[in-house]
Amino acid sequence: MKPFKLGILGSGKGSNMAAIADACLSGALPCQIAQVLSDVPDAGILKHASDRGLTGRFIPPGKFRTKLDEEAEAEFIRSLQDAGVDLIVLAGFMRILKGPFITAFPNKVINIHPSLLPSFPGLEAWNQALSYGVKVTGCTVHYVDQGIDSGPIIGQATVPVLDQDTAETLHARIQQAERQLYPDCIRAIATGRVEVTGRRITTKPA
Ligand code: GRF
Repeated sequence: MKPFKLGILGSGKGSNMAAIADACLSGALPCQIAQVLSDVPDAGILKHASDRGLTGRFIPPGKFRTKLDEEAEAEFIRSLQDAGVDLIVLAGFMRILKGPFITAFPNKVINIHPSLLPSFPGLEAWNQALSYGVKVTGCTVHYVDQGIDSGPIIGQATVPVLDQDTAETLHARIQQAERQLYPDCIRAIATGRVEVTGRRITTKPA
């Protein structure tokens, strides 16, 4: 059977990518990581890729701070198309991907966000949760659309906020939940169990 190929994009330490890669290598996830791309030359995610013998590549993002410039975006698109990826997995990719990228891969780009969306979109969602004073937060895997953290929700996991939590302890607990949720959602998509009807996504049991 043709392998289900993933392209993973990240700018940071790469703990989600490492969890996904390890699940692929152990056979728990029926996927192959075809490419790992980063906009940061020394990102941990590229080190995790090379440690596992995966193709990692830095693509210079260009002149903007929060998005890719036109040329860079075209290079990301080309690289993922050449690798023949079936799904693009954003794992801590810190640049907004809008028009051309989303159009090039319709319904094929997913992201993980460290809150229960639609609460606390945007940056440092764990800090937003602490400041607001919620007792439960979590993480969300969603399709990427033209907005920010606004696409249809594939899966969510809850995480308690404890009285003694600091930003670091809460973030670490959310990231632990992410490392379970992301592979689970990718597995559901790769095995054809996810059905999208507008904003409503249903997942058939395995
Ligand atoms: C994750 O916490 C995710 O929610 C957010 O970026 C972070 C990436 O962490 N989108 P890592 O690089 O996977 O460790």
